[in-house]
Amino acid sequence: MQPATTPSNRPVSDTEPCSGVRKPSSREIIRKIVDALNDIAGVETVFKNGAVHPGGPHYRLAGMSGPISIGEDECRALGALIDAFNPTNAFIIGNAFGLSGVFVAAMMQARRGQRTVTLDNQSEGEGQRIARIAEQLRERLGCDILINWKGSSPVDIPAAAENKLYDFIFIDGLHRHPQVTRDFFGILPIATPNAIVCWHDYWMTGIPKSVEEAQRAGFQCIKVNTSCEMVFGSRDEGVFNTICSLFENTEAPKRRLRPGAFLKLCCALTSAAVRKRIAAKPR
Ligand SMILES: C[S@@+](CC[C@H](N)C(=O)[O-])C[C@H]1O[C@@H](n2cnc3c(N)ncnc32)[C@H](O)[C@@H]1O
Repeated sequence: MQPATTPSNRPVSDTEPCSGVRKPSSREIIRKIVDALNDIAGVETVFKNGAVHPGGPHYRLAGMSGPISIGEDECRALGALIDAFNPTNAFIIGNAFGLSGVFVAAMMQARRGQRTVTLDNQSEGEGQRIARIAEQLRERLGCDILINWKGSSPVDIPAAAENKLYDFIFIDGLHRHPQVTRDFFGILPIATPNAIVCWHDYWMTGIPKSVEEAQRAGFQCIKVNTSCEMVFGSRDEGVFNTICSLFENTEAPKRRLRPGAFLKLCCALTSAAVRKRIAAKPR
């Protein structure tokens, strides 16, 4: 396993959180990230008003069909958890061009966070180029606590975790079964007893099965009806009750077919592919 781009992205030591400085809000951090991404590579809006539920917008890099980031409303949901729990260490499976990783790191760095680790195998789209953009974004936002690793879940989780335990874990890699379940069992050994585990895209095929396994392993889970449906779980009853108190639009996780969202996703992917082919045609 190796750093996502150059060794320069290795933090020299754990970084102290900023003190005496006003903490930036979720919205401020999102704006900075989107502005920086626009400057670095250009971004396109996807699912402007949400995919499964009202929310969004999501983003992808200009001229690419994927990967697609979590929605702005979903960043705010993660931000609400970070505000409430002040996690120390976060681990993210699936970094893409860095939107969620930099968001989590910037939120945590302005609070009491010490480390955010992302793991991505660069398998989606123009993987290497996308990883370089994620690294530029990390540098632009000054996220010293963030380290982006190139590697595959679950095999590379132990090396990326560097003997630390994580109290905030976000699973957003490949969404197919059984990969999401493998991701869950991969993160269990590095999770603190009171860790919060977050899944993105509950509406997609592999996530409900992973959440069921988590419930069998003692996690209580709640689904928040964000744009693409996020599930948050914990083995700690107090943590779980606090999570439930933070969100309004919630329900117990229960798999439902979402043909409308599936259609929206297909349209978003094919329209980008068609535009790319037209642009590539010699005139
Ligand atoms: C939906 S994107 C992640 C989006 C990102 N969380 C965000 O919102 O900015 C999924 C990413 O998972 C990565 N991926 C797929 N399978 C993986 C695996 N087994 N291990 C690590 N990363 C994986 C892909 O390369 C892709 O970049």
